[in-house]
Amino acid sequence: MKILVTGGAGYIGSHTCVRLLEEGYEAVIVDDLSNSSIVVLDRIEQITGKRPGFYPVNICCKKELDEVFEVEKPEAVIHFAGFKAVGESVQKPMEYYSNNISGTLTLTECMKKHGVFSLIFSSSATVYGEPDRMPLGEDCPKGVCTNPYGWTKWMIEQILTDIAAADERWKVTLLRYFNPIGAHESGLIGEDPKGIPNNLLPYIAQVAVGRRECLGVFGNDYDTPDGTCIRDYIHVCDLARGHVMALDHMKDQNGTEIFNLGSGRGYSVLEVFHAFENACGKKLPMEFRPRRAGDIPVSYCDPEKARKILGFSTEFDIEKMCADSWNWQKKNPYGYGENAPCEA
Ligand code: NAD
Ligand code: UD1
Repeated sequence: MKILVTGGAGYIGSHTCVRLLEEGYEAVIVDDLSNSSIVVLDRIEQITGKRPGFYPVNICCKKELDEVFEVEKPEAVIHFAGFKAVGESVQKPMEYYSNNISGTLTLTECMKKHGVFSLIFSSSATVYGEPDRMPLGEDCPKGVCTNPYGWTKWMIEQILTDIAAADERWKVTLLRYFNPIGAHESGLIGEDPKGIPNNLLPYIAQVAVGRRECLGVFGNDYDTPDGTCIRDYIHVCDLARGHVMALDHMKDQNGTEIFNLGSGRGYSVLEVFHAFENACGKKLPMEFRPRRAGDIPVSYCDPEKARKILGFSTEFDIEKMCADSWNWQKKNPYGYGENAPCEA
């Protein structure tokens, strides 16, 4: 079965392509490389022995995307392509709404034209806004987002739900990721943020490898056991496996399904920081800083629905997540940058 993977050269997309290829699917990537590197294709091939199809196409370009569907005739789509930097989305809302929402509309138009009606979409726990209960179940109401990036996820969920409600041929799966971290255990693919990392794990990893001086921990006065925020971290390879399970489930699916993908267990910023120190075998510099605007104190999921319906549960714990993240970072201190060939 051939799967078209938008954004498949990116962090989560590349790990999902590996899993798809390992499970006997064919993968065709459409990615404009706006936030990824062509080197990823070699790395996927090194891991799996198979090279995914690749089109350097912006999904907002209907003509080019249409040609990909015409030539490749995929049976389903996993849709990762989009901009994802929260802070940047506040500075550049038009770019975010345009890329994420227009891109999705163009994609669904092409899918319909070519008779492809199975779609998995990368959503986020961010759509829950500031929740009033924990853990977060899929039945929790969507909340108020604090930034344009979050609103694009919120709106795309609504758009896809409406599309599936209007035409029963559609099968749409909305996967709400919690906090994906880690890397493939080979150290050949991993997260390679451009510029200063916004997210916790890549920042710690860059401190550990000597690219950043010190981790700033944003707030130690929250109402949590150690005063720092709690999140539900999920190994990116568990997440990738979740996509393939969601794809398998689609055969029996009608309309729209929503699944949280997380472990159901929260870790504080300090717990993650210390787990990473253990993984890299050294003490790392850290200082407390003021709270970051828009952060919620605690977020973790109820993973039951994914377990019951997809048979999905996470395999890897925080130690493995940090070990794999460190393995990737130390073998590729500058990510996919050409100055730093992988030592694997
Ligand atoms: P990423 O930036 O590594 O991957 C996204 C890929 O999409 C990149 O390779 C980029 O080049 C490509 N892309 C962007 N716009 C495109 C366009 N118009 N046409 C073609 N390609 C385009 O991000 P990621 O962390 O792998 O995230 C994948 C998806 O999951 C995104 O939609 C993101 O919003 C969502 N998500 C990520 C997280 C996370 O923590 N990483 C959490 C929740 C949801
Ligand atoms: C952030 C985004 C969310 C997005 C998710 C995945 C915000 C408010 N939310 O979630 O929309 O879906 O990333 O991309 O940006 N931290 C530090 N120091 C750092 C970095 C982070 O202390 O240098 C703390 C944060 O304050 C937070 C925790 O670490 O408490 C996790 O942060 P992060 O990795 O950015 O994830 P989220 O905030 O959960």
